[in-house]
This record gives sequence, structure tokens and C-alpha cells, in this order.
Amino acid sequence: MKKIKDEIYWVGVRDWELRKFHGEEYTTHRGSSYNSYLIKDEKIALVDTVWTPYYKSFIEELDNNIGLDNIDLIVVNHTEQDHAGSLEYLMEKIPDVPIYCTEKGAEMIKGHFHKEWNFRTVKTGDSVDLGKNKLVFVEMKMLHWPDNMATYVSGANVLLSNDAFGQHYASSYLFNDRVDQGELYQEAIKYYANILTPFSKLVKAKIKEISELNVPIEMIAPSHGIIWRDNPMQIVEKYDQWASDYNEGTVTILYDTMWGATKKMALSMARGIENKGIGTKVINVARSDKNDLITDVFKSKGVIVGSSTINGGVLNAMAGILEMIKGLKFKDKVGAAFGSYGWSGESIKQIEERLNQSGIEIISDGIKIKYDPTSENLKECEAYGEAFADKILSQ
Ligand code: FEO
Repeated sequence: MKKIKDEIYWVGVRDWELRKFHGEEYTTHRGSSYNSYLIKDEKIALVDTVWTPYYKSFIEELDNNIGLDNIDLIVVNHTEQDHAGSLEYLMEKIPDVPIYCTEKGAEMIKGHFHKEWNFRTVKTGDSVDLGKNKLVFVEMKMLHWPDNMATYVSGANVLLSNDAFGQHYASSYLFNDRVDQGELYQEAIKYYANILTPFSKLVKAKIKEISELNVPIEMIAPSHGIIWRDNPMQIVEKYDQWASDYNEGTVTILYDTMWGATKKMALSMARGIENKGIGTKVINVARSDKNDLITDVFKSKGVIVGSSTINGGVLNAMAGILEMIKGLKFKDKVGAAFGSYGWSGESIKQIEERLNQSGIEIISDGIKIKYDPTSENLKECEAYGEAFADKILSQ
């Protein structure tokens, strides 16, 4: 139990060894944490719990520190198992304690645990007095589930934001001013790119709504990673930028290759793009971390996608990445397709279709090369890269 500000304590768990999250969907190279908070006021409130495998030590520690019977209320900002997984075991000990959550939250808790607990459903603006502090609830629908909400602790002026503004980042330090800024921002943007991108419009609207509340925010304490205490609004400003069809003007070339011909094309295109002064990353998707490369796509203006043709389609690692790109609904990006083939060459058309479905505007007709590219072919690829770069520069 660590004090973070006034009457608020961190009672979460650090998961140093976590390497995959959401099943196999999200890689967590730096682990994560499940941040639960306790407000020890005249009334004692627990905000969120921790992921199910950690329920035992979490509950034991709470009991040792304050005594479970002294908890007056529980707030469930979000029902996903990484935050509500321990609720079932906690409620076995204190079954009558009221649970504050959104209406959707109550529905989801019932759906997961099949229990009728003492639910108090809340909407934006509803509040509970604890004594010195007051909890004010703010619905955060679809950021990133329909049940999400944040809890503002008025008095201490701390926003307990749940998933928003979080990072999968285990650190022995609690606060943003203590950790490596490069690591912190890499994890924060990766989180945004892979989880929040489809909801960017809602992110913009929510930021506007929160700023119009005109309340002081001295600290933003998310449910994963470190707490923003030094200039906490810096992460809100970043979210505002990331939600605004973000890119850094670069080009990412994604490829998958069987015998290296498509790779040669990728490298020549990259040379052409660099000739025009645009930064590029060339990524073999079958050998790279999918969430890291999605973060690179998020940062890019241009996405050029290549695969050799196999059995009338694209290679399987690329098929998975194209599915991820489609689901993330990136905005304001341009793209093109390429690849080598032996006899049929369908991959280019299929990639173009996928990019179209993803809302990525195709600005150059695809380029395909039969068999292994000649030096002439590679010059064509370089020129293709230059032309693609020119189109970006002229936009
Ligand atoms: Fe949506 Fe951290 O769970």
C-alpha cells in the first residue's frame, strides 16, 4: 500500500513477467501493472481490483492494511478481468458492500460472475461523499468498452482514469517523473495505437467534455503503468494529438516474403523514399512483433504493403496484419501494394482490396514482379518509391 496523494493509496499489483495480454493479442515487453486505489477518508472506497491470478495476495494485503470489513464501497470503473477479476473473491468476504458502476458495468459484472450484488448504477456527474473527498463519476463509454467510466476524486483533485492514459509498463516507481521517458512514451503510444485508435473520435469528444468540466486535475492515475503527477495534462495533450488522425510524415513498408524477392523490392522502394528525404521503416511482418509494427503504422503517413503470392493469396503473417489494420480504422493514411509471384500474382489485388476496406487511400497502382527481380526491376522499385514519396510531399 503506497500513498499517492492525500487520502489516496495505490494498492495494485505489478506484473513483471507478463509478456502477452488480451490472450495473445497484445505484447507486453515491459510487463504491466493492475492499479487499484484505496481512498481512506471518513468512508473508505476501493476503486477497481486486480487481475484474477493475483486475487489472493491482493485481498490479503487489503485485509492486513485496513480490514476488509472497513471498506464502505467499491467502484468498478471497468469490468474487464484485469481490473474486476478479483471482485468475485472480494465479494465472498464482503457481499453486501455497494458496488458503484455504470448500468452497462452492472450488466457485464452479472454476465461474468452471475451474482446479484448491491449495485449502485451511476451516470456522468453522479457523486458520493467520502468526507474530505467526493467521488465524481464520468462515463467513458467505448473507451474502450461500453461499461468504462473514470472516477474524479474531488478534494485530492485526482482523476482515476482506468484504461485511458495507461501503459503496459511495470516499474518500481509509481510516477511519470521517475521513469525513463522514452520507455514511458513508447508504451503509452503503443497502447493508444493498438487499443484506442478505433475510438479516436470519442477520445476527442471526451477530452473536450472533461476540459469543460473546468475542474483542477493535479494527478492522473490510470489502471496500468505509472501515474502522471508531473504536468499530468501532458498525456491528455498527447491523446488529443493521437486522436487527430496522427502521423509523423514517415512511410512504413510492411512485407512478407518466401524466397527474398519481395524483400528485395521492399528495400529498393525504401531507397527511393529515402532519396526524397522521407523517413522509412522496412518491416518483415513474419519476423516482427505485431503490436510494435502497428505502432509504426500508426506513426506513418504512408503504408506500403507487399507479399509474395501463395495459393492465390497473401502469406499468412501478412493476412493477420491486414486484418489488424482493418479493425483499427486508421485515418488520413495513404498506401500501395507490391509483391513478387511465380505464375498467378493475386496478392497485390488482394492487398489493395484490404487497404481500401481499411480506409487507406491507394495513391499508386500496385507493382508486381515475376520471379526474382532483375537490377532493372529493382530500379523500377526505387523509382516507384520516389514517386510514392513525391505524392506524399505534394499533399
Ligand atoms: Fe480494458 Fe485494462 O482493461
